[in-house]
Amino acid sequence: MKAKAFAPAKINLTLHVTGQRVDGYHLLDSLVVFADLGDTLHFTAGEALSISVTGEHAAGVPSDSRNLVWKAAEAAGWTGHIDLNKVLPHGGGIGGGSSDAAATLRMIEDEGGAIPPGTALRLGADVPVCTSASPNRMRGIGERLDPVTLPHLPALLVNPGVEVPTPAIFAALECRENPPMAEDIPVFEGPQDCAEWLGKQRNDLEGPTTLLAPEVAQVLDALKDTKKTLLSRMSGSGSTCFALYPTMKAAHFAAYEIGAAHPDWWCRAVQLN
Ligand code: C5P
Repeated sequence: MKAKAFAPAKINLTLHVTGQRVDGYHLLDSLVVFADLGDTLHFTAGEALSISVTGEHAAGVPSDSRNLVWKAAEAAGWTGHIDLNKVLPHGGGIGGGSSDAAATLRMIEDEGGAIPPGTALRLGADVPVCTSASPNRMRGIGERLDPVTLPHLPALLVNPGVEVPTPAIFAALECRENPPMAEDIPVFEGPQDCAEWLGKQRNDLEGPTTLLAPEVAQVLDALKDTKKTLLSRMSGSGSTCFALYPTMKAAHFAAYEIGAAHPDWWCRAVQLN
């Protein structure tokens, strides 16, 4: 058996930290969407589990049991070879590892395999939403998902090349009890009214991340200065940030602007949904 899976980048359009559980995990209220850009995985069933990592962002990605893809396959009892093509920067707040693991679970399920209940959440708080790979409001620590309808959003993703450790960012939060989003998410006509509403929401991790990684503040400033930008914000705990635009043409133009000024930053125009 051979199979292929796509692991799209995950973007937190909002990330409100609303509390903390006794086990230390944080309660979130986050609007999550996915990009038309991501890693690809090729699976060849066999007797033993092995992984090879290729692609632009292969460096530093483990090809053994430390890889979340390995853990996902093992948890579901799947064996064979997995070729993981890394397009997304890891440690970047766009769910690279979580999305790869989720794509592995989706493939196993599509091929008729059984996934033990709770596997996705055990692999990581972002894995359940990545398994859906569609717009969702994510609550709890990541296990409570409500599908939402959102317009397709032209966007630019920018990563300055610094990795930020998620636990340290959560630990540096000054306030853990912040207001959630409104109970009802409005129905939007397009990117403009959606961005206007998003502008009144937050990513509560932006403060601690910009303190620990000043490059992220630089990215946010640069995105704010691009032409026709509707909103700029950090995704997850960083370091990837995004900006929204009215059209893909405007997003591509912004990619050109940022690329010219900061050739060392990873910068991609994408569509989010
Ligand atoms: O579950 P995941 O591997 O994505 O989380 C990485 C770390 O981020 C956790 O060990 C925890 O320190 C922090 N985290 C948290 N609350 C969440 C998700 C993650 O405190 N809801």
